[in-house]
Amino acid sequence: MFEYLFSKGKIGTMETKNRIVFTPMGNALANTDGTVSQKDIYFYGARAKGGVGVVFTECAIVDGERGKGNGKQICVYDDKFIPGLKALADEIHKYDSKIVVQIYHPGRQGISLINGNLPMLAPSEVECNVVHQPTEAMTIKQIEDMVDKFVNAAVRLKKAGIDGVEVHAAHGYLVNQFLSPYTNKRTDKYGGSLENRMRFLEEIIIGIREKCGKDYPLIVRLSVDEFLGYVGLSEEGLHVEESVKIAKRLEELGVDALDISCGIYETMNVSWEPSSFEQGWKIYLPETIKKAVNIPVIGVAVIRDPEYADKMIREGKIDFAGSARQHFADPDWSNKAKEGRVNEIRKCISCLHCMETLMKADSSGMSCQCSINIQGGNEYEYSNFKEDGEGKVVAIIGAGPSGLEAARVLAIRKYKPVIFEKSDKLGGQLQLANKPPKKEKINWLIDYLKSQVEKEGVEIRYNTVPTIEDLKELNPYAVFIAQGSNPIIPKSIPGIEGENVSTAEDILSGKVKLNNKKIAVVGSGMTGLETAHYLAANSNDVSVFEMADEIGPGLYFQNLIDVMNHIKPLGVKLYPKHKLVKIEGKNVVFENTETGTSEYYEFDYVVLSLGRVPSKESIDEIKSAFDRVFVLGDAREVGRIRNAMETGFLTAYNL
Ligand SMILES: Cc1cc2nc3c(=O)[nH]c(=O)nc-3n(C[C@H](O)[C@H](O)[C@H](O)COP(=O)(O)O)c2cc1C
Ligand code: SF4
Repeated sequence: MFEYLFSKGKIGTMETKNRIVFTPMGNALANTDGTVSQKDIYFYGARAKGGVGVVFTECAIVDGERGKGNGKQICVYDDKFIPGLKALADEIHKYDSKIVVQIYHPGRQGISLINGNLPMLAPSEVECNVVHQPTEAMTIKQIEDMVDKFVNAAVRLKKAGIDGVEVHAAHGYLVNQFLSPYTNKRTDKYGGSLENRMRFLEEIIIGIREKCGKDYPLIVRLSVDEFLGYVGLSEEGLHVEESVKIAKRLEELGVDALDISCGIYETMNVSWEPSSFEQGWKIYLPETIKKAVNIPVIGVAVIRDPEYADKMIREGKIDFAGSARQHFADPDWSNKAKEGRVNEIRKCISCLHCMETLMKADSSGMSCQCSINIQGGNEYEYSNFKEDGEGKVVAIIGAGPSGLEAARVLAIRKYKPVIFEKSDKLGGQLQLANKPPKKEKINWLIDYLKSQVEKEGVEIRYNTVPTIEDLKELNPYAVFIAQGSNPIIPKSIPGIEGENVSTAEDILSGKVKLNNKKIAVVGSGMTGLETAHYLAANSNDVSVFEMADEIGPGLYFQNLIDVMNHIKPLGVKLYPKHKLVKIEGKNVVFENTETGTSEYYEFDYVVLSLGRVPSKESIDEIKSAFDRVFVLGDAREVGRIRNAMETGFLTAYNL
């Protein structure tokens, strides 16, 4: 099965058991002193154990004074980090996998506060539009010192028994900044012509080769297209044509493989994509580079299906199939593929909760988390499923993500979950979240959870809301209430219960079908915006009203940008600072919260997306009838997929 994906590979002198690469992924799991933590060892070890051929670490810090990305990142700027790195290498080697450490400097994309409050070092004083930090152009001496820092880091990796080094020259970090005419405005030997812009990277490579020898596997990660036009930046950045030249030169310099990505912070949505990007959308990038060089090419392109990965290798578009998020969401992807258990793969749904939590890691104190794999980043804490359920029955009310995840974990623990589901489908709210355009990936989660409960033979009673007697008949050891939430309908607003008013749920469930209508969507959370997208895609004229100052309050910016990119071309109009006051048939009144004045609009239909409240029905009754009653997911506290999956997982794990 998947002959190409599971064929042996070679990167310089490094032989790999297959063509699967876990590409670098910041996880905020290192010790605060920069040493590799036990959590790191469990985290990377899980991916190696899961069958990945080459595990890459997160980007590691080469400059301890002015080169940090976050407070819990692996460091390589001193010999004191060698023992931890060695322990990591030993762990990965247990599983016949290889380990490569990526080395980097954030440059203008770093945060001054965690770098001695100093301006961030960069080729030129070009501030990053995303992090907005003071930026200082490096002196020649600083550049030379920085080259040494990269080289010395590689030397330490070799000493630690790490199988290879990857120089991070992608995603808009320091080396990328030198390569790109967008961020490199220098007029000395490090700026201007491509030859000059490459000099910093060339010196690093030559230095590593000199100090580590020609046999030490050396990989370079490149953003071969910066996609500046994608965000309306007119300035010239790197494009594939120029990157082909860079790739060829790197091959001449003796680089062993190229790891092809794209984008910089300003164009982050092409580097780690939100859900609307399809598998394979950027495979042409590694393919173009591969045509130009004779060294192996690692490619990322929202690769989620082993079939697809295998095909891309077979067709010669890539040599190694890379993904960070797929292996974060399911560390056993490789083994499941190899064993023909493809339907059991928990495919990454591109929700970007991982990146959102990573970016907040320093302020939250949390590590990078996954919406759908609760063990992700918590392998150290949650790797021991006690199989002590002894067949005891646990009744679960609701087959949404929290109920299904709980059932999955309970079954692993040898309990006997019995699920009551009021509808005829699995998935709960996921059956609404999958309806807007570009949200098909949600079906992957439903399919995965379904595969797990089916595999474990979990009994599901569809179309059933259990009575206390139904539950008592099971004599359950515990009852899990995962019955979800209900839409908020503020009854105090006149006209809110009118015939032309419905909820986002009514629209997405298909209960109310609207075409060629003029519609006001009230509320611009993700559900409101996605419902607007759904309605606009069905030939409606849609306006979104939001009481807060901004559209999409509280949404993660990458996801907001993504949905905006889709609804704006459909003509969806946006009204922040507008509070719904009254609905009188087709006349809808809003208060402009900025001016305090009333504004009058005419709409055929009003769709409410004002949030949800936990469904509390029967909870007290159930609690008084049984000893162990737990409330999960939205029924406990309304939240996103992560909240549902986490409460399901933890309640079952800790029972
Ligand atoms: C949370 C997170 C952290 C990442 N950290 C790094 C990193 O340290 N270095 C790097 O080169 N790429 C990093 N990436 C990019 C990934 O390696 C990968 O290229 C990207 O996620 C797209 O591929 P995927 O969707 O298959 O994971 C990160 C991505 C995410 C989501
Ligand atoms: S958090 Fe979302 S995007 Fe990140 S790995 Fe998990 S499913 Fe994928």
